[in-house]
Amino acid sequence: MREAAVIFLNGVRRDVRGGDAMMMLADWLRGEEGLPGTKVVCAEGDCGACTVLRSFRGSGFDAVNACITTVAQMDGSHLVTVEGLERSGELAPAQEAMMKCHASQCGYCTPGFVMALTAMRERHATPSRTTVANYLTGNLCRCTGYEQILDAGCAMVAPKSHSLAERYRDAASVDVCNQVTSQPLSIVAPSIRFHAPTTLRAALALMASEDGCRVLAGGTDLGVPVNKGAAWAQTLLSLHLIPDLDLVEVGRRRVTVGANATLSCVRRACEGAVPEFARFLNLFASPQIKNTATLAGNVANASPIGDTLPFLFVAGGTLHLARRAPEHGRIERRELSIDQAFSGYRRLALQPGELITHVSFDATRKGETLRLFKVSQRKDLDISAVSAAFAITRVGNRSGEYPVIDGARVAYGGIAATPVRLAQVEDALRGELTPAKVASVASLITHAIAPISDLRGSSAYRRIVAANLFRRFADEVMRG
Ligand SMILES: Cc1cc2nc3c(=O)[nH]c(=O)nc-3n(C[C@H](O)[C@H](O)[C@H](O)COP(=O)(O)OP(=O)(O)OC[C@H]3O[C@@H](n4cnc5c(N)ncnc54)[C@H](O)[C@@H]3O)c2cc1C
Ligand code: FES
Ligand code: FES
Repeated sequence: MREAAVIFLNGVRRDVRGGDAMMMLADWLRGEEGLPGTKVVCAEGDCGACTVLRSFRGSGFDAVNACITTVAQMDGSHLVTVEGLERSGELAPAQEAMMKCHASQCGYCTPGFVMALTAMRERHATPSRTTVANYLTGNLCRCTGYEQILDAGCAMVAPKSHSLAERYRDAASVDVCNQVTSQPLSIVAPSIRFHAPTTLRAALALMASEDGCRVLAGGTDLGVPVNKGAAWAQTLLSLHLIPDLDLVEVGRRRVTVGANATLSCVRRACEGAVPEFARFLNLFASPQIKNTATLAGNVANASPIGDTLPFLFVAGGTLHLARRAPEHGRIERRELSIDQAFSGYRRLALQPGELITHVSFDATRKGETLRLFKVSQRKDLDISAVSAAFAITRVGNRSGEYPVIDGARVAYGGIAATPVRLAQVEDALRGELTPAKVASVASLITHAIAPISDLRGSSAYRRIVAANLFRRFADEVMRG
């Protein structure tokens, strides 16, 4: 059993134990490693000042927020901070472009932008302006103005030396990472134990034996309150060393996503099989968040405004669950339809000791129209006030004038204590979609829901938005 998390930091091996391993990565980099280039501004994953690059299990270097992730979660990874970009006094391409395009004033946000742009450069040799903007949705600047920063992203030239992957993922360090990630990790810190077993059986045994054991996946929900003074659960269980749970399998009919798969992996995998979900995930948080956050975590968090949930409701979402049976100790598995998964506000209907191993959902079928909407106060990196998912199959235009719908699924987030599917609206939608039908279904939606008022929107506002999202969808369907 290992007692230290192992990471390669700017190419140098670090073994991190005890309380240090449970520090937030940014605090550890700045306080313990003397690397102050990684800034901390919001400590909530919202501004990108703390961006560092991570490669795990052979992936390319992706941007992550160091302020809400612990060192222990980075076990087995190669990490590069802004200090690691320097090479023989030469500026890295992102630094040079930021300088030439006058894209920095006070400079406090600049290392974060440089790291986000470097992550983009690792995947895109000639990015479009839209690609640059998508990679920068997780970075805020309060004084320069974004045009110059976007210019810098487009003006980056090829690196003069090797890419980060060539430079930092050498065979020897990759071998070490492969070796350490095949051994379980157990870190004991003051008032926290962090376990990362290498098998599902061992994970379930921990869930069964340790009271209050909590799964820590990306930590993008769990890490934020800790920075505001909340305590971690006494026992944290990380599944990151269980390779079976990394799976993202795209079949002809179903997509299956393991508990470890990040939303970035899901987005890439869905580009062909569920393109609307892939497009929608561009509006989910930022690249930094999506590079650590999991689909299982979004479901298990059970928020009424969890953005993937309305989609899962209309796409036949299923949770694949496992626990250690108390009677005989064998692994007991069951499937739970997403329709049955939420038992109340932020409550998931799991049994004690149970965890999500996979989440599966339908691939988009021929003849099916899927549309996903998110309404928030700003387009990028914001929490939904209302979200909606519509999936219909149609049988053509009976009269030649209006489309005829033979199957409909409709779900909303942000309008009740849990995400909801509206069966009566689905029934009402079947048949010819005439302007009169659109008006009556919109009115039905307004009356069928009872949203709360909060700082993201009043109840009345949410009713109007919910009906308008349907009107917009219907308009698109009627236009063909
Ligand atoms: C800046 C920022 C922006 C965000 N933007 C969005 C957004 O646009 N839309 C949105 O919906 N959410 C958003 N979130 C919330 C969050 O990123 C998502 O809910 C994310 O999917 C959580 O996944 P995670 O892996 O980080 O979960 P964690 O934080 O690790 O865990 C969340 C919960 O799920 C439980 N859990 C995790 N995995 C399992 C499992 N396998 N079995 C059982 N329980 C499990 C944990 O115990 C915990 O209770 C945002 C968060 C931040 C910080
Ligand atoms: S400090 Fe703002 S995202 Fe980390
Ligand atoms: S240059 Fe000052 S915050 Fe961006």
